[in-house]
Amino acid sequence: MSGPNLIPLDAVDPAMVEELLDRAFEPGRHTRTAYKIREGMDWLPGLSFAALDNDGLLVGTIQCWPVALTDPNGRAHPMIMVGPVAVLPDQQGGGYGKALMTAAIAALDPRAPLPQVMIGDPEYYGRFWGFSAEQTGGWTVPGPYEKHRLLVRCDNPAVLPAVGELGPWRR
Ligand SMILES: CC(C)(COP(=O)(O)OP(=O)(O)OC[C@H]1O[C@@H](n2cnc3c(N)ncnc32)[C@H](O)[C@@H]1OP(=O)(O)O)[C@@H](O)C(=O)NCCC(=O)NCCS
Repeated sequence: MSGPNLIPLDAVDPAMVEELLDRAFEPGRHTRTAYKIREGMDWLPGLSFAALDNDGLLVGTIQCWPVALTDPNGRAHPMIMVGPVAVLPDQQGGGYGKALMTAAIAALDPRAPLPQVMIGDPEYYGRFWGFSAEQTGGWTVPGPYEKHRLLVRCDNPAVLPAVGELGPWRR
């Protein structure tokens, strides 16, 4: 059996992506803290993908965004914000989410992989990809969140600032 069919997200009509996100998340998703962290940014085409089913229908998406953790000295440390990962409710559990996450992480530039940050279930994202809340205890985000769900993945966690505020990457 072949794996899910993944294509670059910019090959998909943006209105269909929004409709899928509306179906995967509760109403009011736009007010989530994750949206505020990357407010005003465009998703990164090279790190964002869509999953199609065997009939070529859109069943899942992943988007990644340019964000930064600003340390107490005002220095911005660029990072990749991962998510939302979304799979249509009646297609969940079929491996699409896993394939989308794996594709986004595999697409990172191995020469200079920025740390990846997300708000999500530590069980799911820790188990498969090594995301952890261990380094994020001193970070703040622009909105309510559960501390154990602010996750980061980084080749060398020693480079991560212990304290900082996450927000859009404005250069
Ligand atoms: C979370 C989500 C993207 C996962 O996608 P999916 O296609 O359903 O997941 P997969 O089929 O790839 O799951 C792979 C494995 O992870 C497990 N898993 C899925 N969601 C999980 C969760 N929230 N916590 C722990 N494990 C989870 C599955 O049981 C499966 O385990 P297995 O391989 O041992 O059977 C999807 O369920 C979804 O869109 N949910 C609603 C939107 C959402 O909450 N997105 C995440 C926040 S940005």
